[in-house]
Formats: sequence, C-alpha cells, structure tokens
Amino acid sequence: MLYDIIKNNYDNISSWIQKEKIEAYRLYDRENPQFPVSIDVYGDYVHVYLYEKDNISINDLQSLTDIALKQLFSKINSSNIYYKIRRKQKDGSQYEKFDSRKKRIIIQENKISYYINLTDYLDTGIFLDHRKTRDIFSGLVKGKKRILNLFAYTGAFSLTAAKNGVEFTTSVDMSNTYCEWAKDNIYLNELDPYKHIVIRDNVFFFLENIKQKNWKFDFIVIDPPTMSRSKKMLSKFDIQKDYSYLINTSSEFLSPDGMILFSTNYRKFKFENEIISLKNVKDISSDTIPLDFKDPLIHKVYLLKK
Ligand SMILES: C[S@@+](CC[C@H](N)C(=O)[O-])C[C@H]1O[C@@H](n2cnc3c(N)ncnc32)[C@H](O)[C@@H]1O
Repeated sequence: MLYDIIKNNYDNISSWIQKEKIEAYRLYDRENPQFPVSIDVYGDYVHVYLYEKDNISINDLQSLTDIALKQLFSKINSSNIYYKIRRKQKDGSQYEKFDSRKKRIIIQENKISYYINLTDYLDTGIFLDHRKTRDIFSGLVKGKKRILNLFAYTGAFSLTAAKNGVEFTTSVDMSNTYCEWAKDNIYLNELDPYKHIVIRDNVFFFLENIKQKNWKFDFIVIDPPTMSRSKKMLSKFDIQKDYSYLINTSSEFLSPDGMILFSTNYRKFKFENEIISLKNVKDISSDTIPLDFKDPLIHKVYLLKK
C-alpha cells in the first residue's frame, strides 16, 4: 500500500527534517511502479505529480494518494494538496505555463525565503534535489565578491550566495516569468536589487555579448536544462553537445582563483575532461544527494578550477 511506503519514508526522515528545520522535502518518488507519483511536502502543503502510465488511471492514482496522505497527515485539508499530471513532455515544455490559479506560498531553507507556486507551472520554484548542492555552495562562496548564475530560474543559487555574504550576483535566464520570480525572491529576502541583478537573456547570447566587456566573476554557476527548444533560441539546446561551450566560454570570465559549479539532470551525461579548458575538475555528485532523495542519478554536479 502507498500509505505503508510513505509512512516508512516519513519515519526515516522525520527526526532529520525536524533537527535540520527542513520545511520542504520529498516524501515519495515512484519507488514502487504500482504507484507512479512523486510527493513533495512544502510546510502545510503537499505537491503531487501524477505520472501517466498504462497500469493505473490518473483518477485512481489521485484517490489512492489522497487516502494515503490523509492517513499520514491526519489534519491535512484536501485544499492543501495540489495535484499535477505529468504527461510525456515535448522538449523544453516543462518551463511553459500550466495553470493560472497563482497559489503562492513562502517556504524557508537555511534561513532563505522562497516563493513557491503550487499551481501554475510544472515546477514549483525550487529544486529540492539541489538542497545539499546549495548548502555546499554556501560554504564555497564565503569571501567571494561577484558570482554569475547562468540558467538562474528563480534565483536560488544567487539568493544562497547573497545570503552568505557575496556582494554582487548576476542571474541570467531567458524566461520573463522566472526573471520576475527571481526579482521577487530578491525583494523577499531584503537584498539590494542594484547589487543582485537579474538579466533576461539567452545565456548563449549573453556570453557572446560580455566578451566585449571586462567582466570577471569569482564563481559561476551553470545549471542548464537537458534540452531546450524555444522561440527565443535560434537552435535547439542539447546539454551533452553544448556543455563544453558553456564551461569553456564561462571560464574566460573567471577571476584567477575563480570556480565553476556545473550541474545537469541528464541521466546519461558523460563528462569528457579532454574537451574542457579547466584542468581541475571534481565530480561531487555523490556528496550532493539529500537524504530524502533515493535516486543517485537525479543530478550530477562538478566543481571546476583553473
Ligand atoms: C534547470 S532550470 C535551472 C535551475 C536553477 N539553476 C535552480 O537551481 O533553481 C533551467 C532554467 O534555464 C532556463 N533556460 C533554458 N534555456 C535557456 C537559455 N538558452 N538561456 C537562458 N536561460 C535558459 C529556463 O528558463 C529555466 O529557468
């Protein structure tokens, strides 16, 4: 039964989430193929992905999940559980609009506040699988002055840097929605918007444009989607094909002791040292998987230096 699995998962992490004061966590992620759902808890709210599969209808899956969640969290109200159906996506379409109910809440992670939207997009505004990456990153940026966050989404890495003493952050994302969301997060955390800027641009154009400027950064985060095909892009983006260009070009803007954090969710990703200009490369993926995520391939993370 789904209840038994989520109860077991909850029992395994409950003392850890209390000790670490974790408000948003993954409770269940398709561990059992009979129940193809992902369940994330955000404070008093629950966000559920229902995966379209042949073995069970979406309606049945939703009722089973509802029953299991109400058994586990006896006080939860149906209106606090948000369901989204995950159909097979076309390339890049997970970043498009989903609904328009605008159910926005605020959650905290490591004393940083984030706006979470439970209804309107496939993703909620924070990638929980990168909680530990953000934690590691918060230690690495101490004492750094300027960071560049490419494919910034809602600005989580920029907020982490800013809240850990980085004076200037530049977040770049192609989506107007996510740029506005990142700006809202900057205001929410009472950060100076003149020091923490958000630029709406295609990263590929941005990197070409800043070649004329003498910009240098002490840390660059590169966390692109696996694929992206958008009206705003001239050609299709493919992580395996394009990552070396992204890292090698970004490395031109690093200060002498600068560092790059590169991350990808592409499960089949292969890192080839020979085509990368930075020679000091460390795969830290296994250090970055949080306790509430069981899949070791959920993402890969590399640290690179000259
Ligand atoms: C995987 S998310 C990044 C997650 C983010 N680093 C975080 O930790 O929250 C990918 C983001 O890349 C953006 N994006 C996709 N293609 C882009 C491009 N060519 N230039 C700029 N942004 C792009 C999307 O709008 C999306 O916000």
